[in-house]
Amino acid sequence: MKGVVLAGGTGTRLYPLTRLINKHLLPVGKYPMIIYGIDRLRQAGITDILIVMGKQSAGLYTDFLGSGREFGVNLTYRIQEGAGGIAEALELARGFISDRDRFVVLLGDNLFMDDLAPFVDSYGLQPEGTARVLLKQVKDARRYGVPVFDKKQHELITEIEEKPAIPKSSYCVTGIYMYDKAVFDIISQIKPSERGELEITDVNNVYAAQGKLEYDILQKWWSDAGTFESLQEAGRRMKGMIP
Ligand code: G1P
Repeated sequence: MKGVVLAGGTGTRLYPLTRLINKHLLPVGKYPMIIYGIDRLRQAGITDILIVMGKQSAGLYTDFLGSGREFGVNLTYRIQEGAGGIAEALELARGFISDRDRFVVLLGDNLFMDDLAPFVDSYGLQPEGTARVLLKQVKDARRYGVPVFDKKQHELITEIEEKPAIPKSSYCVTGIYMYDKAVFDIISQIKPSERGELEITDVNNVYAAQGKLEYDILQKWWSDAGTFESLQEAGRRMKGMIP
């Protein structure tokens, strides 16, 4: 199993701080944000990790993370030049993933406390060409991708609605996804959304429409630290997660 951490994007909701430094390098407790995702992967036994980053602050990532050795992982880096969306960033992992590999994708601003290992094991039991996403019950699902569950086969998601005005469930699709090589064919099929981005939800909806999207539910604390409020809470919660 390999890992891919997506850490591009402009982080406009965190302006003006993110004019100076990429969002995923902002401080959360003692460390830059990106360390927490890397550490969750390492803790689940995933040490071969690709970081996809923007041009902004690229030198700072390598200054801090280096080869990854200090953090118990082996890092590869790629640069996303444009702002073409999460699925565009994921496409850059194509050469990093071999035919037999399966991999976990993390959005670098998603901070969480659950152990990934049991979810990774469940994905290992799924047939080739299928995907798995992790969900979290949230107070206001309207900010997120929201799953619609299969009424008969409860372990499947039939559709994900991105930022719906009236969510059909109280769960959000977190930025934790599991795929194999088949995802790259799907990315090449999808078209940019109205905001001009290749959306990860459109990728996941191809799996969902084919009955190939399974899920697990995170039980512990999770947040996407994309706003000042959530960034501050993340700092408090994650303190002590890594010694
Ligand atoms: C993205 C996804 C959304 C998901 C969220 C989790 O949204 O599009 O489905 O729920 O990440 O962090 P964004 O934060 O890019 O608006």
